[in-house]
Amino acid sequence: MKKPPYKIALLFGSQSGKTALLAKSLYQNILDRNLPCDLYDLEGKVLEDFKDYEVIILATSTYGDGEPPDNATQFFQSLKGSNPLSLGEKKYYALIGIGDRFYPHFCQAAVDFDQEFKDRGFQAISETFLGEFQEQELIEDWTSNLLYHLDFIVLNQTSGLE
Ligand SMILES: Cc1cc2nc3c(=O)[nH]c(=O)nc-3n(C[C@H](O)[C@H](O)[C@H](O)COP(=O)(O)O)c2cc1C
Repeated sequence: MKKPPYKIALLFGSQSGKTALLAKSLYQNILDRNLPCDLYDLEGKVLEDFKDYEVIILATSTYGDGEPPDNATQFFQSLKGSNPLSLGEKKYYALIGIGDRFYPHFCQAAVDFDQEFKDRGFQAISETFLGEFQEQELIEDWTSNLLYHLDFIVLNQTSGLE
C-alpha cells in the first residue's frame, strides 16, 4: 500500500451540467485545502483509468428510469465488471448523488454506484449524499464533513476511519 499523501480522483457524471458544476466547486474546495486532486468528466472513462488513485469521489445525477447519466454509463459497467480489490489494497470512495424527488427512482444511480463500490471492497469515507441540486445548504454540510475526513485519509493514513 502506497504511503500518504494519497491521490484523489474527483469524477462527475452529469447530463445537463448541474452535477458538473457542483463537482467543479467541490474540486476548488479540495484544492484550497492543499490536497492532491484531479477532476474528470466520466465520458469514455473506465475504472482502470483511475488505478493510480487511492481515493475516488464521484458526483452523479440520475436519468432515464433511475440510470446513470450517459457520460457515466461506461464507467458504471466497468465498475460492475471489475474484480473486488485484492488483499492489502485499500481504496476509499465518497459519493454525492443529485436527482429530483419527483422521480420514483430518486438518485438511483448514486444508490447503485454505492452498492458497486461496497461490493468491490472500497471503503466509504462518509455517508453518501442523496439530494437535489438546489439543496445547497445540505450539500455544503456534506462537503465540510467530507473535507474533514479527507484531510486525515489523504495526509495521514492512521487517523482516518476506524
Ligand atoms: C428525462 C429525465 C429523467 C430523470 N430521471 C431521474 C430519476 O430517475 N431519478 C432522479 O432522482 N432524477 C431524475 N432526473 C432528474 C435529474 O437527475 C436532475 O434534474 C439533476 O439535477 C440533473 O443533473 P445534471 O444536470 O448533472 O445531469 C431526471 C431528469 C430528466 C430530464
